[in-house]
Amino acid sequence: MPYGMSKDNNILSARRLFKAYYIGDSKIDVLIEVNLNIDRGESVSIRGESGCGKTTLLNILAGIERPNSGAVNWKGKNIFTQKPAQMADWRSIFFGIIFQSYYLIPELNALENVYMPARIRGELGIPEENRAHNLLERVGLRKRMKSSATTLSGGERQRVAIARALMNKPAVIFADEPTGNLDEKNGEGIMDLILDICEEENTALVLVTHNKKFANRTDRQFSLHESKLENIS
Ligand SMILES: Nc1ncnc2c1ncn2[C@@H]1O[C@H](COP(=O)(O)OP(=O)(O)O)[C@@H](O)[C@H]1O
Ligand SMILES: [Mg+2]
Repeated sequence: MPYGMSKDNNILSARRLFKAYYIGDSKIDVLIEVNLNIDRGESVSIRGESGCGKTTLLNILAGIERPNSGAVNWKGKNIFTQKPAQMADWRSIFFGIIFQSYYLIPELNALENVYMPARIRGELGIPEENRAHNLLERVGLRKRMKSSATTLSGGERQRVAIARALMNKPAVIFADEPTGNLDEKNGEGIMDLILDICEEENTALVLVTHNKKFANRTDRQFSLHESKLENIS
């Protein structure tokens, strides 16, 4: 992927993020002065021990959670200046999210789950249907399109979740421990797929994982340690 990129390529940047949780009288500092730049089409990984704040950081970058202070700028504009309803619509256009636990809708089949982001935007025509079919083929599920989500294995569910995340042609995919519930072999297959497909689609990837081998496969690597984000690549 484009590496050593110019400033113009920057799409998402976190500026001096601080985040703390308060439980009773005690304060947990999760993020202290975190900065991160993401360029168009590049992949970055964020590694760190369980409970160090990886999910919190990913949720803030994706506009799901708010920082106590600091900004997440999208093409130079702070995403948190939007109203919450506007933010959800905006997010569904530019971002795709893959979670550890897949979060498919159990009542729907694979194809209907992949359609869902387009349906939410009120755009479900022939081009979207073709895209959903092509994405499911791309993730190796041509024969399981009509299968109920509940009948799929963990690896298959994660493949559907990958196709769904890509449905609206996002500029950035956020993946929060996407292999965390899978065995080594399935995990490798899912990692290959996420990295290859993001490259094909020129989609930036923010990967959270505690698997060092997977983390090392992204263009740049970061470590979250004692609330600080460090570039380790
Ligand atoms: N909503 C919350 N309220 C209070 N504490 C939280 C909340 N969410 C997360 N935490 C705490 O913040 C820290 C970071 O959590 P998290 O971002 O989920 O870490 P990771 O994803 O690296 O395992 C943990 O100590 C966790 O218990
Ligand atoms: Mg987490």
